[in-house]
Order: sequence, then structure tokens, then C-alpha cells
Amino acid sequence: MKAAVIRQTGTPDVIEYAELPKPTPGPTEVLVKVGAVAVNPIDTYIRGGMIAAKLNFPYIIGCDLAGTVEACGPAVKRYKVGDRVWGSNQGLMGRQGSFAEYAAVDEKWLYPTPEGESDEEAAAGALVGITAHQGLVLHGGLKAGEVAYISGGSGGVGTSVIQVAKALGARVITTAGNPEKQELCRKLGADLVLDYRAPNVDDEIKKYCETAGVKGVGVWFETQRDPNPERIIPLMAPRGRIIVMAGREARPEFPIGPFYVKDLRLIGFAMFNATPEEQRDCGLGLNEMYQAGKWRPVVGKVFPLSEAAAAHRLQEENTLQKKGTSMGKIVLKP
Ligand SMILES: NC(=O)c1ccc[n+]([C@@H]2O[C@H](COP(=O)([O-])OP(=O)(O)OC[C@H]3O[C@@H](n4cnc5c(N)ncnc54)[C@H](OP(=O)(O)O)[C@@H]3O)[C@@H](O)[C@H]2O)c1
Repeated sequence: MKAAVIRQTGTPDVIEYAELPKPTPGPTEVLVKVGAVAVNPIDTYIRGGMIAAKLNFPYIIGCDLAGTVEACGPAVKRYKVGDRVWGSNQGLMGRQGSFAEYAAVDEKWLYPTPEGESDEEAAAGALVGITAHQGLVLHGGLKAGEVAYISGGSGGVGTSVIQVAKALGARVITTAGNPEKQELCRKLGADLVLDYRAPNVDDEIKKYCETAGVKGVGVWFETQRDPNPERIIPLMAPRGRIIVMAGREARPEFPIGPFYVKDLRLIGFAMFNATPEEQRDCGLGLNEMYQAGKWRPVVGKVFPLSEAAAAHRLQEENTLQKKGTSMGKIVLKP
């Protein structure tokens, strides 16, 4: 089978489109004929050697996938040949990744693909959808009527958090870098969309909360790698939750006084730390939202799998260099 692999960490140029043996599923594994995969920033950190990860070379890159069950190990209980499935969490903790024509995936990391959802959509919504669900439900406890603020609403995480927050009944404020992306955020359900370069973003957040009759932001979902607690804390409602989940190098000053007197919570999380059961709750929760018309993963640029290096360059150009050249998720098809 064809796969996008690396034999050492480095720039996107280390990615090869190579021939590898088709995997044989272990007892609890499902052999998935991959229909689509999606790129995440973590794929680029692993490939670049920016985070310590156990990699078995040749290492197949990628976390997310969607496709059709081609074979099942003898102990697989949930799936049968022909079922459509999606999932994330591949390429981590010593496991091989998803960027291949076939992937052997433990059934605990797979969820059924809802009728009507394409493999491109299901792959696009995998890691980011689970991240949004975990952040808002498992960690943030977002309640209907609260205001949720999402920095960077047009990216992979942002487009997911907007939709999950709206599905939970929150009022959503977000930011995006140009009119086309701002329009996308509105279409996804955001109630107030601001340009993050505008000088009056914080005044607009305050004004919106006042008009909505709330004392500030209930859940702040920070997707940027350089969060600024000095700015965030004054905008929060009492007992608000600030979620940080990006920027391993970030070391901002933290104003303890203004933070504790408002009974605020600071929550950090990495989606792959959650147990398979917790992640399954997210996967099935997203499927319910899809069936209710409240969750549509945003497919951005689609590449053939042979162009995985170009897809990694585009992801880095956006997440690390903030060039704003992408919208939604970068998807590849074998
Ligand atoms: N902890 C976890 O479990 C977890 C899970 C997933 C991702 N992450 C991390 O979350 C981060 C975001 O991931 P992603 O997949 O959403 O990346 P992405 O698709 O590249 O999105 C980046 C977003 O940042 C926005 N942005 C750029 N400059 C901005 C600014 N000055 N202010 C506000 N927004 C700005 C972009 O908006 P425009 O395009 O409109 O300019 C875009 O929406 C990454 O660092 C990733 O590693 C963490």
C-alpha cells in the first residue's frame, strides 16, 4: 500500500510517499480502507521533532482518518466489514499514523460515521471535533445561555468550537482574519464575529455581554499559542473558565489577584490525554450533533495523499507563521 512516511524528523521535505506492507489487524483492531485523512498542527510538531514522541521508523504520519472497515481482528465487537468509521489518536504513543491507503486501528479509537457524512468531512472533524467537545463539555462545563469566546474561529479548532458551543446553547463571540472567514464563522452560528486586528475587540466583547445581560465571558476558549491572561481576565464573568490548549513554549505573566477575586478557573488540556471512553463520549456526542444538523466539519483545501509534504507546509504556514492562507481543515485523499 502507499503511505506518507518519515524515516527521520525534520522539515516537510522528510515526508516520503512510499510503498509499505498492508497492515494485518491485531485481535482488537479494525483494518480501515482509508477514504480521507486530515492534518493537525500536532502532526507537524511530531514530524519536525518539536515534541518528544516515540516513533517507529518508517513512521506513518497523521492522527485522523475516516474510511470503511475491510477486515476485523477476532476480538472486535463493535464493527463489521463494510461499516463506515472515523477516528483520531493514531500516530501517537508508539502507534503508526493514518496517512496511508490502509490503517489497522484499535476499535476503541473508532466511531461510526453518520449517514450522509462524507469521509472528507468525518476526517476533517476528528481531532478538532473531539478537542472542542472535550474542552467545552468535559473540562469547561459550558452551560446554555453563557457566552463562549473563541479566538481564531476560522481554523480547525475554532470552526469546531463555534459549532459545539452553539449546539450546547451558548452565545458565541469569535474572531477571524478577513471578511470571507468572518462570514464562515457567522454561517457556523457565531453571534458576534470580530476582526482580531481591530483595535476595539475587547470593547465589543464587553458591549455584547452587557446587551446579553451577562457579567462577561463564561468560557474563553483560547486557540492561540501566545495567550494573554492580562487581557482575558477582565473580560471574564465571575466563575468563568479560561481554557488554554496551545503554545507549549508560552510563559505569559499571570495576574493572580484579578483572577482569584472573580472565582475564575484556568483549565489546560491536551485531547490525547483523555481515556478512550472519554474520547468515545465526544465522538458519539459529535455524531448526535451531526444527525441534528448542528455539526458540519469544515473541509478546506483537499490534497492527494502523495502531496502530504505540501499539506504540512500549508498547515505550518497558518498555525506557526499565521499567514492566514487556510480556512477550516486541510484534508488528503489516498
Ligand atoms: N491541546 C489540544 O488538545 C489541542 C488540540 C488541537 C489543536 N491544538 C493547538 O491549537 C492550536 C490551533 O490549532 P488549529 O488546528 O485550529 O490551527 P489552525 O487551523 O492553523 O488555526 C489557527 C487559527 O488562528 C487564527 N489566528 C491567527 N492569528 C490570530 C490572532 N492574532 N488572533 C486570533 N486568532 C488568530 C487563524 O485565523 P485566520 O485564519 O482567520 O487568520 C486561525 O483561525 C494549535 O497550536 C494546535 O497545536 C491543541
